[in-house]
Amino acid sequence: MKHEIVEKNVGLLAVLILVVISLGGLAEIVPLFFQKETTQPVEGLEPLPALALEGRDIYIREGCNNCHSQMIRPFRAETERYGHYSVAGEFVYDHPFLWGSKRTGPDLARVGGRYSDAWHRAHLYNPRDVVPESIMPAYPWLFDDTLDGAHTADKMRALRELGVPYSDAQIAGAREAVQGKKEITALVAYLQQLGTVIEDRR
Ligand code: HEC
Repeated sequence: MKHEIVEKNVGLLAVLILVVISLGGLAEIVPLFFQKETTQPVEGLEPLPALALEGRDIYIREGCNNCHSQMIRPFRAETERYGHYSVAGEFVYDHPFLWGSKRTGPDLARVGGRYSDAWHRAHLYNPRDVVPESIMPAYPWLFDDTLDGAHTADKMRALRELGVPYSDAQIAGAREAVQGKKEITALVAYLQQLGTVIEDRR
């Protein structure tokens, strides 16, 4: 009988559905804020060095994350191909996360150390030079553009506000670490550290 009242009253039904979904969502999401597993960095995790941090921003600017995820799911097919599945503690210093789910290209969560710097440079200059069937765009301008590091320290300070433990010395040395470097150098530095904090690679 009471059920009929709810079913025949669309407004009430909508409100009750909202209540149920909200409670369900809270029950799933809120505990994650308090679990060590999701809030503590994995052992050995360091904030990105200044140059790699600039590389990360270039990665975002060029939209690499539109084609590449950084999240290895805990399935055999994924771990055989990419290495150890991703764990939350690897990403606590990532703001914003670049996990993604669209994989036009391979997942890059553990690409660090898999290829040489020279391979990455050749590949980014023109992917077809090293992978003839590749549909990835070329990024030749990264080899011309030079970084001035004017805002690197500010970025690190902003990240520190969010809990990334940059030291004063790292922030003071940021500009010098970046100034005069080519964008490609920063991007490759970023790629080469991806996923390397977890040892068991494959
Ligand atoms: C339009 C989609 C697309 C975009 C945008 C894109 N890629 Fe790719 N990427 C691919 C595809 C497809 C492959 C696989 C073929 C190849 O190796 O070139 C690939 C391969 C790679 C690989 C080799 C991965 C492996 O495990 O073999 C790296 C590293 C990479 N991309 C980095 C980048 C970076 C850095 C950017 C941004 C500057 C970028 N990609 C932008 C599609 C894309």
